[in-house]
Amino acid sequence: MSPTMRSPVPEQVPDEGNTKKLEEYSKMKTIRRNHLCANVTFIICAIIYAEAQSDCTSPAIKCGCEQRNNKFIINCRDKKLTKIPVFNNTSIQYEELTFSSSYPNTSKCSVCNRITFIPPRAFVNLNVKRIDLTRNALTYISNDSFAGVEPYLKELLLEGNEAKEPNYAALKNLTGLTTLHLENFQQTTLYSNNIFGYLQNLEYLKLKTFKKLSFIDSAAFQNKVPKLKTLWLEDLPLVTYPAGAVLNIPSLQTLHFINTPVYKLYSMSFKDLHSLKVLDLSHNKIDSIENDTFTGITDTLLFLNLAVNRIGYNINIRESLNFLTSQNWTNLEQLSLDYNKLDTFLEGPFRTMSNLRYLTLESCQLSSISSRLLQGLQNLHTLDLSQNRISDISVNAFVHTPQLKDLRLYEQNHKFSKDLAINFPPAAVKIVRTSLTHLNIEQNLVNVSEIWEIIELLTNLEELKLRSTNLVTVPDFVFRYHTQLQVLDLSENQITSFDQKSFHGLKDNLTSLSLANNNLTTIDECVFKNFSKLNYLYLTGNMWTCNCHLLWLYDWITNKMSAEPGTEYIMECVCHSPPKLSEKYIQAVNRSDLSCIPVYIPYTCPDYYITTITTTTSTTTPKSTPIFKIFITEVMIFSINVFWTIDDKSDVTGYVLNIYDLQNTSRKSLTNLHRDNTRFKFKGLQPQRTYNICLQVELNNILNQNLISCVTQSTKSVPAFELFKKTISDTYIEVRWKVSDMTEITGFLLSIVPLKNATDKHYETIPRDGSSFLFRNLKSFASYKICLELIIKGQVYDKEEKCITLQTKKTNKTVRQRTAA
Ligand SMILES: *[C@@H]1O[C@H](CO)[C@@H](O)[C@H](O)[C@H]1NC(C)=O
Ligand SMILES: *[C@@H]1O[C@H](CO)[C@@H](O)[C@H](O)[C@H]1NC(C)=O
Ligand SMILES: *[C@@H]1O[C@H](CO)[C@@H](O)[C@H](O)[C@H]1NC(C)=O
Ligand SMILES: *[C@@H]1O[C@H](CO)[C@@H](O)[C@H](O)[C@H]1NC(C)=O
Ligand SMILES: *[C@@H]1O[C@H](CO)[C@@H](O)[C@H](O)[C@H]1NC(C)=O
Ligand SMILES: *[C@@H]1O[C@H](CO)[C@@H](O)[C@H](O)[C@H]1NC(C)=O
Ligand SMILES: *[C@@H]1O[C@H](CO)[C@@H](O)[C@H](O)[C@H]1NC(C)=O
Ligand SMILES: *[C@@H]1O[C@H](CO)[C@@H](O)[C@H](O)[C@H]1NC(C)=O
Ligand SMILES: *[C@@H]1O[C@H](CO)[C@@H](O)[C@H](O)[C@H]1NC(C)=O
Ligand SMILES: *[C@@H]1O[C@H](CO)[C@@H](O)[C@H](O)[C@H]1NC(C)=O
Ligand SMILES: *[C@@H]1O[C@H](CO)[C@@H](O)[C@H](O)[C@H]1NC(C)=O
Ligand SMILES: *[C@@H]1O[C@H](CO)[C@@H](O)[C@H](O)[C@H]1NC(C)=O
Repeated sequence: MSPTMRSPVPEQVPDEGNTKKLEEYSKMKTIRRNHLCANVTFIICAIIYAEAQSDCTSPAIKCGCEQRNNKFIINCRDKKLTKIPVFNNTSIQYEELTFSSSYPNTSKCSVCNRITFIPPRAFVNLNVKRIDLTRNALTYISNDSFAGVEPYLKELLLEGNEAKEPNYAALKNLTGLTTLHLENFQQTTLYSNNIFGYLQNLEYLKLKTFKKLSFIDSAAFQNKVPKLKTLWLEDLPLVTYPAGAVLNIPSLQTLHFINTPVYKLYSMSFKDLHSLKVLDLSHNKIDSIENDTFTGITDTLLFLNLAVNRIGYNINIRESLNFLTSQNWTNLEQLSLDYNKLDTFLEGPFRTMSNLRYLTLESCQLSSISSRLLQGLQNLHTLDLSQNRISDISVNAFVHTPQLKDLRLYEQNHKFSKDLAINFPPAAVKIVRTSLTHLNIEQNLVNVSEIWEIIELLTNLEELKLRSTNLVTVPDFVFRYHTQLQVLDLSENQITSFDQKSFHGLKDNLTSLSLANNNLTTIDECVFKNFSKLNYLYLTGNMWTCNCHLLWLYDWITNKMSAEPGTEYIMECVCHSPPKLSEKYIQAVNRSDLSCIPVYIPYTCPDYYITTITTTTSTTTPKSTPIFKIFITEVMIFSINVFWTIDDKSDVTGYVLNIYDLQNTSRKSLTNLHRDNTRFKFKGLQPQRTYNICLQVELNNILNQNLISCVTQSTKSVPAFELFKKTISDTYIEVRWKVSDMTEITGFLLSIVPLKNATDKHYETIPRDGSSFLFRNLKSFASYKICLELIIKGQVYDKEEKCITLQTKKTNKTVRQRTAA
């Protein structure tokens, strides 16, 4: 399961309605759900479409039977039915009979059912618990429609054609009903003498899209529905909230009152609903809420949804939110205020919600996260601030929310300052450094250096979304401590290359990585070596160079596909070059086409994990002691780069770095550094030697011997290399060579000397990409000693050379003449 789907209160997304805002809201939620679905598609689809199990027989010819959780469902969806079919007499007990549709809008749908009529005794032979007739425009329901099915029927869903009142007489005998859903009927008033009194067992009642219903009598439910837990009133033209009628249902636990023109909520509207836990007032026109509106339920409510209203539009935001601050919301866990206008906050609007865990403020026109916004939210877990216009995040923005796990900041629209990156000071995340597991900053212009610093600090991240954030590189070792990271999205950036260091640290838990739509051409074979859980690698939208360097990818995809047949790996790696492979999927080409000139030389991936990071930070020093750690960022043949983090630099006046050669402990050197430094490069080291490097922190100009963090690291060895004969004639010798690791090689130095005359020595400098050389104009039948040395980072490494002695051939006159010509 996706880790973002863990809210204890299910997301309350209302049914599709017809306001623009509602559509936008629903669309957004759908997109997100699909996004989540991408990770679990295979599993979900397998469950939903597991139709036609053997012991599941449909009592009607045209309908199917589905088995779900060992229950049988008669599936008459999308079967072009215009009448209720005849059901055979079977002894099977069915959970559900559905005539609904998989298409949200049936008007242009050719397979949808169009049943308008329910004849008497339509379901007489059935033992069925739930009948769903939504998405059919019923015009006639007989008084006896449900005769025979009364003992079994518990849930009934009916949809009219907007023109007729529901035939309530047909429902009178359904005394066992627990759920009733009526949609698209015509009715102007709901009087007190209605049939609800017969439905004593009703627990769930939904009235949706009654386009003329303008009045609900305050006695409409009085003493009628003693077990009603959920009342859902949607898309009704009521201009005032029917407080009187609803207050008469004290058993109510969930109330949805959505998509109405109601613009004001009055004092004491819910005062007697002492069991109310979920109150959904979204998608109305509410701009004014009196201070005492929620009195009586502020300590019972778990979820309050006021999304998609007009709060802050007509009345200033401070006054608009008095209803929040003037009450103590002791148990409230989730609050949604999405799609209102909360552009300026003066003081902590949520400070009386100490148990709030989920706060969503999407599209609220917020321009900053001030230090006061989240005041009092010490239990906040999820904060959604997506689609605002936040340009400034206070360094103290999260000081009140030390439990924050999930921060969503995607798509801040900077309408007025397109080129201005969000100011997100890294120090702001210090307090949530260990708690934050999910971070989404997609589709923003960010300050790249700030963002990487933030990520470096958030070592407990499990999901990180950086899609479309103008990134061009992934800094070396930035994920070295991110062992929990499972999902990383770097798509739609301009990343041109990365290597093994870029994702170092992620090998054990990373399951999904998106690099789609970047500027990549290749991936080094060491990058994903030993990534044991990586199953989703999105590579589409890059211009891949399909040559020997992607052989590993070819093999990896092939292996994955054969190991788990039926699993779609969404790699879509399309070749861009060479021209003959252009536009082909990499797995569709012949393995032998992935070639290189000169030939591919397998090499050993460096193992950065061998570094043992030993930190000895004293625990006896006072509380204000900073926590710091030194680590290796790069290991080379002659150098080691180190980096350190420190949580609080306020008393730091400098650092001292020591390096000891462990083979020769007398060799040690000290370097004093200014407090602003965070990295250092030790140069001029010996290859393949082990060093101990320690960082000491100087606090207020005093060097504390206990404040020390050390690492032990060996430099890399000089790569192995070999020189070979390639071709020989009477006048030339061609040699070639192989090197085990080209990383630091910048070129080669070749020398040639005739054995007969040691003073006649010549040198040739060859660039990095060369791997062979032709010595011309040699004497025939003469011996030459040819030697190769490596040029490492611009310096000739003369401590090691590889030599061969070769003899040119005797002149063959014919050949020589031809060569001359
Ligand atoms: C209903 O019963 C009749 C007669 O027993 C049988 O021919 C027909 O196939 C049955 N239809 C279904 C859908 O089971
Ligand atoms: C259906 O079957 C039951 C027993 O299996 C029987 O009592 C009843 O009369 C049958 N009804 C019809 C309409 O055949
Ligand atoms: C369904 O589609 C029809 C035709 O395009 C349109 O007129 C109608 O408004 C749509 N209904 C809904 C609920 O979107
Ligand atoms: C309801 O049930 C009663 C008694 O069982 C019966 O007399 C009456 O005809 C039924 N009404 C309808 C509409 O089925
Ligand atoms: C259906 O029942 C209602 C109310 O009991 C009654 O007024 C009406 O005449 C009945 N309709 C038919 C067709 O029997
Ligand atoms: C509502 O509450 C606020 C703050 O608690 C107070 O200043 C204001 O006067 C109250 N308004 C009314 C109408 O009672
Ligand atoms: C809310 O609780 C605080 C502390 O428990 C208390 O001081 C304050 O008066 C309460 N406010 C209301 C409106 O009940
Ligand atoms: C990015 O942030 C750093 C540190 O906060 C700052 O020095 C730098 O000026 C910012 N860069 C841009 C382009 O805003
Ligand atoms: C992988 O993630 C799980 C769960 O988050 C964690 O328990 C485990 O320690 C992680 N593995 C490593 C090697 O850190
Ligand atoms: C990435 O590719 C795009 C389109 O090809 C180009 O405009 C952009 O400059 C490239 N960015 C980098 C960093 O190479
Ligand atoms: C040896 O090589 C040098 C330099 O090319 C040349 O001057 C000299 O004449 C050569 N000696 C012999 C014996 O060929
Ligand atoms: C010299 O050339 C002749 C004619 O092409 C050939 O037969 C002979 O094998 C050659 N000898 C050598 C040593 O290459």
